[in-house]
Amino acid sequence: MTKAYKRLTIAYESFKKKIDFQPRAALVLGSGLGDYAEGIKIEATLDYGQIQGFPVSTVSGHKGRFVFGFVKGVPVVVMQGRVHYYEGYSMEEVVLPIRLMKMMGAKYLFLTNAAGGVNYHFKAGDFMMITDQISSFVPSPLIGPNIEGLGQRFPDMSQIYDKELCQMLRDTARGLGIVLQEGTYLQLGGPNFESPSEVKMCRILGADAVGMSTACEAVAANHMGMRICGVSCISNMACGMTDQPLSHEEVKETADRVAPQFKQLITEAIGQMA
Ligand code: HPA
Repeated sequence: MTKAYKRLTIAYESFKKKIDFQPRAALVLGSGLGDYAEGIKIEATLDYGQIQGFPVSTVSGHKGRFVFGFVKGVPVVVMQGRVHYYEGYSMEEVVLPIRLMKMMGAKYLFLTNAAGGVNYHFKAGDFMMITDQISSFVPSPLIGPNIEGLGQRFPDMSQIYDKELCQMLRDTARGLGIVLQEGTYLQLGGPNFESPSEVKMCRILGADAVGMSTACEAVAANHMGMRICGVSCISNMACGMTDQPLSHEEVKETADRVAPQFKQLITEAIGQMA
């Protein structure tokens, strides 16, 4: 057994001893979006620190716990706070929670984040459904011996974000009267925001939004055959696109402002994952 698999197994055993719950869908809440977890029908919570071998997040605005409960009758596990590569963890550690949620039983993965808008047609406060991604600027979480129990050595990435789930999100947003942009998410390492030239590079490469998470998680989840969808909250236009310097406070403020609509969209979408 590889070291990574061993650590994962230990984390899973530790979870199993404490919680008896089988989620169908897994939801990862991004910066400023964590409050959503408090509004669901909660059955149990588990602080990351209580799970053996689990990497614990240090960013303000990110709580560190799993919330287990029901959204429209669908059993869900919610990550209230994620682990970021820029905190100094290895990629293997960053995706351990995603792998763990698959082991708990989750078939669906709903990824959310706050991201900088790179596409000039976007504005702060927009939602962008992620249709594809660029993860080439951070190491793959699959580097190292392949964990055969999870997936194959050279997994296909031609459709990371599930087509049917994307259509379901479009329909759901339309039904709610929510404008849903679409585009490619590019992950950079962070924690610094980009320079104007780096943002220009992102645009030239075909990105519509830039952030510091998510793509690596989607790679690990796709490796395991999870059905994935994702929505970015465009919390700000990326550096150099306005005269304003960026701050984490601005990211959180925008996320707070659009949280009610965001909650509606997530709730209705998860309801479709029954
Ligand atoms: N860049 C990178 N990550 C981000 C941004 C940004 O502008 N906003 C929120 N997360």
